[in-house]
Amino acid sequence: MVETPRIAPSLLAADFSKLGEEVVAVSEMGADLIHLDVMDGHFVPNISFGPDIIASIRKFSSLPFDVHLMIEPVDSYIEAFVAAGSDMLTVHVEAGPHIHNTLQKIQGFGLKAGVALNPGTPIETLDNLWDVLDLVLVMTVNPGFGGQRFLESQLSKIASIRDKIDQLERPIGLSVDGGINGETGKMSIEAGADILVAGSSVFRLEGVPYSKAIEQLRNR
Ligand code: DX5
Ligand code: ZN
Repeated sequence: MVETPRIAPSLLAADFSKLGEEVVAVSEMGADLIHLDVMDGHFVPNISFGPDIIASIRKFSSLPFDVHLMIEPVDSYIEAFVAAGSDMLTVHVEAGPHIHNTLQKIQGFGLKAGVALNPGTPIETLDNLWDVLDLVLVMTVNPGFGGQRFLESQLSKIASIRDKIDQLERPIGLSVDGGINGETGKMSIEAGADILVAGSSVFRLEGVPYSKAIEQLRNR
């Protein structure tokens, strides 16, 4: 179990009318990464923002931009997200057509490559991808919306992936995304996650400053 998880506030739950200020605020208040959810209204039933928005807020933080692409097809957009200033690009295995090739392409640009597993996606999918992976993101809700309930059924998946990662020589991040709060974050860390993505429980806790929300997630 990791001592200090990294916290990645998800901008999906931020105030879109002042995204730059929101990025500055969480960057100054203890975030480790900025998580950016890109949705196309096709791969997932919601539309968020694209590379131009990401490029426009890049200057507000020196933290890594952890970009979660929920778009299909994905390959033809990778270059635009690289140019926008992404540091990590995570794609879904279903976004196809050739996941290994997509991950190779991302690493070819010098970025970290991640794969996201939906709640219904089996871990065996990872078996032939380890050589091109820097990050595994376990979805603990079905992708598309913030504010959903954490699916405890995914904890055993996190634990199995942790076992696999520990057998490898290269460091690979294990991120958990969806319904994370103090309690579910603790369960995820105990199962083996080392990055907590959190939208609602950073940006939408009434009367709780971001610094406190982030600290609560980190120290559980
Ligand atoms: C969901 C997104 C998440 C979302 C999490 O498809 O991938 O990153 O912002 O939001 P919360 O933390 O509110 O569940
Ligand atoms: Zn996400």
